[in-house]
Amino acid sequence: MKTIIQKIDKDNFMPEELNEAAKILQNGGLVAFPTETVYGLGGNGLDKDASSKIYEAKGRPSDNPLIIHIADIASLEDLANCIPENAKQLAKEFWPGPLTMILKKSDKVPHGTTGGLDTVAIRMPEHPIALALIRQSGVYVAAPSANTSGKPSPTIAKHVIDDLDGKVDMIIDGGKVGIGLESTIIDLTGDAPVILRPGYITKAMLEKVIGKVMVDKAILSKNQDLNLIPKAPGMKYKHYAPKGELTVFEGNNTAVISMINKLAKEKALEGIQVGIIATEETKHLYQYGKIKVIGSRKEEASIARELYAVLREFDDVEAKYIYSESFTSDELGQAIMNRLLKAAGYHVVQVEEGSKEG
Ligand code: TXA
Ligand code: MG
Repeated sequence: MKTIIQKIDKDNFMPEELNEAAKILQNGGLVAFPTETVYGLGGNGLDKDASSKIYEAKGRPSDNPLIIHIADIASLEDLANCIPENAKQLAKEFWPGPLTMILKKSDKVPHGTTGGLDTVAIRMPEHPIALALIRQSGVYVAAPSANTSGKPSPTIAKHVIDDLDGKVDMIIDGGKVGIGLESTIIDLTGDAPVILRPGYITKAMLEKVIGKVMVDKAILSKNQDLNLIPKAPGMKYKHYAPKGELTVFEGNNTAVISMINKLAKEKALEGIQVGIIATEETKHLYQYGKIKVIGSRKEEASIARELYAVLREFDDVEAKYIYSESFTSDELGQAIMNRLLKAAGYHVVQVEEGSKEG
């Protein structure tokens, strides 16, 4: 299939520029487009054949449900049944924005979109191109992240092209996304609200609006506990993984840096390519390997924005081993560490102060 690549300036575009993309969605085809979190791969969420095309293009297991994107809060009533009051409050506060809500699905939503579940994930994105595309097509757009299953989610169109060129009808290049990590997912179908995937909208922000919110235990654990099965089916797969072997080092900053330097030197002497995930604050302290700055510890949002691009860049330089510092695990840091640990397959080394071997 020949994929159309269309550049659109998110801050200055005419509705006509989306005509072809809207047509493709109406006719059951696939369009990758930017959202404020990551790029999505869109198809008609009410058309089970479009959903199966999405699974096929991504190489995604079909038990892993899709998020349906809407452009008006009123569409909730169309897609979900028995909508609880707290869902309405959250929609009012955070939509459009990086929050996905799990609700009971209406009969309109096919099981082919929900991975066989009777619940449905719904989000109203904030990106101008995403909103305009949904409105113009008149389609409820099912859209997982627009990466090949298992790879880091795309934050620029080039990542989408690398993964999906030739497999989808169109890729809209709307520039770099703003947040860089997928939306927060909250399940509102049980007795208490539960966060299934941490993201830019934090637990504290949610609790301000609806009171006590729980966090799915499976996403908090530092070690992959096989007894804990995440409630969001997608969270159980190895994910966001670079090709090289990624290790996260935890502990006192100085000790972590000296441990990473020691290991990187050993590999360098053997002629093995090593990648290092450093921060603005620490980049000058490393001596070996390909050092990539992920952002500044003073602004966690900068780390969120660069994480996936940095992981993909290490694939480009064929890093065999990648060493990363760790980050705080509250607020946005919780989302960052959740993705980083999954990318590392939960390979974490605790570095003791003054230790030579870890
Ligand atoms: O920011 C985002 O959410 C991006 C952009 C494109 O909107 N989308 C995204 O979709 O990350 P995806 O498919 O890569 O991740 C959706 C996650 C998966 O972990 C999936 O298992 C979970 O949402 N999910 C979807 N429907 C669900 C449901 N009914 N119950 C529980 N988890 C669900
Ligand atoms: Mg994804």
